[in-house]
Parts: sequence; structure tokens; C-alpha cells
Amino acid sequence: MELSKWINSNYLTPEGIADVRESVKAKPTMKYCVLDNFFLPERIDAIIAHHATLKFDEAADRTGHDMVILPYDGAVKWADGNDVGAEFYFAEEVKEYFCYLLNRLKPPRTSVELKLRWHKPHATGFWIHSDSVWRSIVAIMYFNKNWKASDGGLLQLWRPDEASYDKSTIFDNIRSDQRLDFLNENQRLKTNTPGGGWPSHWPHQSRDMILVDQIVPAYNRLFLCDLDADPTFHSVTPSCDKIRTGFVYWLNNESHPNFKGK
Ligand SMILES: [Fe+2]
Repeated sequence: MELSKWINSNYLTPEGIADVRESVKAKPTMKYCVLDNFFLPERIDAIIAHHATLKFDEAADRTGHDMVILPYDGAVKWADGNDVGAEFYFAEEVKEYFCYLLNRLKPPRTSVELKLRWHKPHATGFWIHSDSVWRSIVAIMYFNKNWKASDGGLLQLWRPDEASYDKSTIFDNIRSDQRLDFLNENQRLKTNTPGGGWPSHWPHQSRDMILVDQIVPAYNRLFLCDLDADPTFHSVTPSCDKIRTGFVYWLNNESHPNFKGK
């Protein structure tokens, strides 16, 4: 698999790669980058055309342990070798490339999970969570042409604060059918129950979370993030009347002691 047959050449030159790596290094806590016009136009359009032919399963995307419905409003089709894009999704070269952009090493034993995603109009959003500990890297690709910030569906990044404010509103016991508009209204909030929980070595107590960035889920935009560098708590705001689509790529660290796989 040749990366140059898939990716915008701007992200493959030594200078382009160096620019991305430096931008990641400069991030103060969460180590991520946002790459616009990531795929070659014919590749992204073929992926999107294929995506439009698929069926998506909401229950498979939202059902957690003990059959609890999670406050993550999406539907999934797990990618496999037959999907357009599979040659890219599961390539060793892509694993190496993503790790290199993030200034990190690839774990010794890895696998890729890839969710092709579909979100209905007026999706209620995703509550703040961290992707699980054995997921070493996440890459999210967005397919949505002419998407505006006001259309919602924003990926929000949250930093747990060391300080706790008495005035911070507490949000716990988030219901799966609840529209999470309060995510747009609180740039600081307090919670004891992020999805995925706090890292086990952290004291378990309510923490203030501070909103540090929001990414518009726009066409051919890639969000790439190192989950080993920081838990990278994130959420998604409710959306308006448009369907929102994309995919989520996880590089699993199969050597992690808690690795459970899909
Ligand atoms: Fe997530």
C-alpha cells in the first residue's frame, strides 16, 4: 500500500510531515492534530459513495456492558476487508505513519478497529468520555460537506482541571435519551462520571472539566490523537437537522494488560 495513492501529498513531504509533528509537540496536554483535505479527492469521494450504500446499526454502537444504552448517539458498520477504503484502513504503513506524525512509537502488537459511522439528524450528542486504555491512537475522519459550526456535532476536547470551583455545575447520571445541549453552554463543568471512567491511578473524585477545543466535523478533515499521551476526554455536541457521517479508526495496543479487543 502506497500512502501517496491515498493521502494529500502536502502531508507526505518531509516539510509537511515536520510541520504536523511540530504542531503536535506544541500542544500543551492532549497531543493531536487536525489535517484538512487529508485524502485525495477521488479517494474520499469513493469512500463516501460506498458509505451511502451501507446499513448502520444503532444498537451495536450504543449498547455497553450489561446491555446499558450509552449516551452516545450514533450508528455503526464495522469496517472489514470488503469495504472501500479497507486497503488504507488496515495497512501497516498507515499505523507507522500515524505514529510518526504523533512523535511516538508503534506498540509491539497492534490491531485496527474501524467504525464507519452514521448519525441521524437531531442526534443528541456524546457525553464526555475517554476511549479505552488499550486504544493507543484515534483518528476520526469527517465526510460532511458545507458543515458549519452552527450545525452542531462538534468534537469537544476537555481537560480535567486541578482546581475545583464551587460555582461549577455538576453533570452526572447522563441519560441515553437526553439531548446534551448543556455541552454548548458550559465551558467549565464538574462531573464524577465521565464515560470510560478516570484512569485507575487517579483519585476518584468529582473534577472540573475545562473545554479546550472544538473541531467542526467538516468534509475530508482528519482528527488524529495520541491516547497514550493523555486520556483525551472528549464529547460531541447535539446536531441540527443534518445527517452526519465519517469514520473512527483506533490503533489497539494488544500488549496492554487490559486489552479486550472488540
Ligand atoms: Fe470517543
